[in-house]
Order: sequence, then structure tokens, then C-alpha cells
Amino acid sequence: MRTFRNEVQYWRDRGDVIDIRSLVDRRFEAAAITAEIQATSNKIVVFHNLRGSSMSVVTNLYGSRERLRAIIGTQGHGDAPCASFNRHVDRCLSPIMPFVLRDQTPSERRSTTVSELPVLTYHEMDAGPYITSGIILVKDSASGIHNLSFHRALVVSDAELRLSIGPRHDLAAIQRNAEEMGLALEVAFLVSVSAGIFLAACTSLPRHSDELALAASIDGAPIPMRRSSALGLDVPIAADIVIEGRILPNERRPEAPFGEWMGYYVAEKQSHVLEVVNVDCAPDSLFHGLICGSNEDLRPLELTTAARIHRALAQQFDGILDVVCFPTMLCTAIRIRQAHEGHAGQVLLAAIAAHFMYSKVCIVVDEDVDVYDLGDVMWAYATRARPDKRTHVLSDIPGFFRDPHKDHWGRLALDATIPWGRGAEFARKRIPGRDRVDLEMLSGR
Ligand SMILES: Cc1cc2nc3c(=O)[nH]c(=O)nc-3n(C[C@H](O)[C@H](O)[C@H](O)COP(=O)(O)O)c2cc1C
Repeated sequence: MRTFRNEVQYWRDRGDVIDIRSLVDRRFEAAAITAEIQATSNKIVVFHNLRGSSMSVVTNLYGSRERLRAIIGTQGHGDAPCASFNRHVDRCLSPIMPFVLRDQTPSERRSTTVSELPVLTYHEMDAGPYITSGIILVKDSASGIHNLSFHRALVVSDAELRLSIGPRHDLAAIQRNAEEMGLALEVAFLVSVSAGIFLAACTSLPRHSDELALAASIDGAPIPMRRSSALGLDVPIAADIVIEGRILPNERRPEAPFGEWMGYYVAEKQSHVLEVVNVDCAPDSLFHGLICGSNEDLRPLELTTAARIHRALAQQFDGILDVVCFPTMLCTAIRIRQAHEGHAGQVLLAAIAAHFMYSKVCIVVDEDVDVYDLGDVMWAYATRARPDKRTHVLSDIPGFFRDPHKDHWGRLALDATIPWGRGAEFARKRIPGRDRVDLEMLSGR
């Protein structure tokens, strides 16, 4: 069974973990250390000695493209990560194998409370400690389908968390249905999960598909499930920490400010209330801390967003080689092999339509451009495109939903490809033998 703990161990064995054994404060200090490590080695961080808690905290587990590629099974240089991710999506859209194993003998659980968990406070103006890696697992009572999504939770007390639920997410629709009937929605809030569950929770699948099937495909085996202790919900055995609770109907309470994914604070707003019914954990639990808007939030969401755009493009066009969303999901770079005049223009329009919430700035480049290097991408635009013909601004189209001042309305589409039929003029110059230069040998070492 794939677990959070054995994921950490796997990377520890490969030298990708930094252990911090000195005493660290949960308020800001753990986040500050993580941010510094993300900006330098970008390794995984394990805090063994956090003030006021006996549980260790792991940060930045999913914060690197290399780790994500290994998790989803990207094979070699020519295999685009978005394409490898979509192989899992294809498998889960029409699952041929059972993707959950029910009624497994549960492993031992220990009863605990929210205040015993090592919840971190991340940013200067945050309203308080936040669980940022928590995943709501809910089963739609009408369809029996499981949905997984992240929702940050402000810790108010042992009995109450305040949840941020974006209005367009599946959970919002499921909760609205319950609310219309005056019912509380019973959910499991999972912390420290397997890589498959983590990535499935970053993914928006059509409502009729089960996100646990995606998790199973990535984890490489059906997800073993058990009945939760208090509410009898279906929960993955591998989730280290499970908070069972009820999202109260017609009840909203103040939540935030909080430092969000775009790098700014979101102001106080009225958010959903999760009434906590029970908290339990595996005896050897690790707690997953995550800085919103950092590598560990953005790299996984960029991957799943790029995969969705790649899927939509590859269904319509030949020559879609790679899609990368960077430095945020609001920007998309697409690498193509031009097949006909105007190809890039069509791809740009389709990319915008593939994700109305995120595709704000789209740019198409040729196959000789490194889409993982924004410098190379902009070099292509600067040297291959005439701005008066290759820059398209689409007006008045809404984008990201929380946008009271319409800052995300409109789209920018840039065609940075070689003018059709002039490939020879734009072939990149090269210096023969550069790939064989051995600097260590030349300097006599
Ligand atoms: C680390 C992380 C934190 C997130 N926090 C929130 C959040 O607080 N509220 C929210 O609505 N979405 C949040 N999201 C985004 C959704 O969980 C994500 O888009 C998910 O795929 C939506 O699932 P759905 O399409 O099944 O509704 C977060 C995503 C990540 C990766």
C-alpha cells in the first residue's frame, strides 16, 4: 500500500530529504525554513522537533517537477509529463479494474484532537493556523462517486474548522444540494495521503468520474478503504490523519486573511463551517505542511492543468508536443510541430477554451524551444514574431472566479512560432562539439 510515510522514505533513500532536528516554531519559522529550502535545493523537509507537538511535519514533498515525473511514471526525455499524467486520466475515465478495496482490516488508529496536530501558521497576516494540505473526500449520495479536493481550513477550536470552498468546485455543488435539503454534509478531511490521492485531489475530472480511480492508477493499485470510526464514511486506510465532520448548512463564518496561491492575501470572507466529529491518526503519522502558492502548491496544479489543456488540444490537433503551465496556472506555453499555416493560431484559441478559469496568457512555440525555460519562450517570441500580427488580445472574457474588479477578464494569446515556410531562416545556430566538451578534463582534474 502506498502511503505518505513510504513516499517520504523513498525520497530519503535518494538523498532528497533534509532533516531539521533543532527546535522549530510552528508559527512562521517552519514556513520560513521551508521557503528558503524551496528556493535553494528544493528538497523535502522533515521537521522532527516542533514546539508543542510530538508529531513530525513534512513539507515540500510534491514541490519538484522531477519528483512529480517519477510519481506519474514519465518515461525519458521524449515523454511529456502532461501526456504521462493523461495516461492515468484515460485509465480512470473508463476503469476496467476495481479501484477501491473495501472492508480491509483497518490498521491500528489512535484517537486525537485538532489541537494535538502540528498545524502551522504560514504568513504574517494569516488569520491563524491553517491546515493547507487537507483533502475533502466526499461521496455524492446520488451517484456514489467519490470526489477529492483541497480546501484550506482555519483552525478555530477542536470542534470547528472554517473551510474555503471555491464556488465552481464539485464539492461546492455537492454541498449546495445538501444545503437545499437543509442537510449537513458528512465529509472526511484527509491529511498526509499517498501521492495518487494527492494528485487526484489536484485534478478536475468530469463529475461522472471517480477521483479515487485516478488515485489508484497513479498509486499503481486499488485504494484500500475502511469505515471511519465515528460517521462510518468510506476512507482510505493510508490517510495518516482523518478528521470526520459535517459541513453545516446555511452557516458561514469569517475566515482569512490568508496568503494564497497567487502570492497575495485574500481578505476576510464568509466561509463554510466544518463541525469536527472525530479525529484519528495512524500511530506513526507524519503531518503534511504546505505553503500555498509555493512550489508544492503550484507544481502539482500546473501539471494537472497542463494535462487538461494537452488533452483538449491532442484531441483536435496533430503535433502537440508538450504543454507547460508556468510560473502559475494562469500562463500556458505549448510546444508544437507546425503542420500547416495558421496551426499556432488555432492551437491558441483551443488552449484558451480548454480552461476558462486559468488560461489567461497562452503562448505557442516550435519544437526547438524549451518550454520549461521562460527565457527561451520569450526569446522565441522576440526573435520570431511580429507583435502587430502575432499578439491577440481577447476582451471581456471572465477568468478566475474570485475577481471582483475583473483583473482576470480578457486573454492574451502570443504566437511565437517560426513564420510558416521560413524554417531554414530560423534554424538555431549551433557550435559543433559543444555537447562533447568536458570542462573537468580540460582543467586537468
Ligand atoms: C495545496 C492546494 C490547496 C488548495 N486550496 C483550495 C482551497 O482552499 N479552496 C478551494 O476551493 N480550492 C483549493 N484548491 C484547489 C482545488 O482543490 C482543486 O482545484 C481541485 O482540483 C478541485 O477539485 P474538483 O474539480 O474535484 O472540484 C487547492 C489546491 C491545492 C493543490
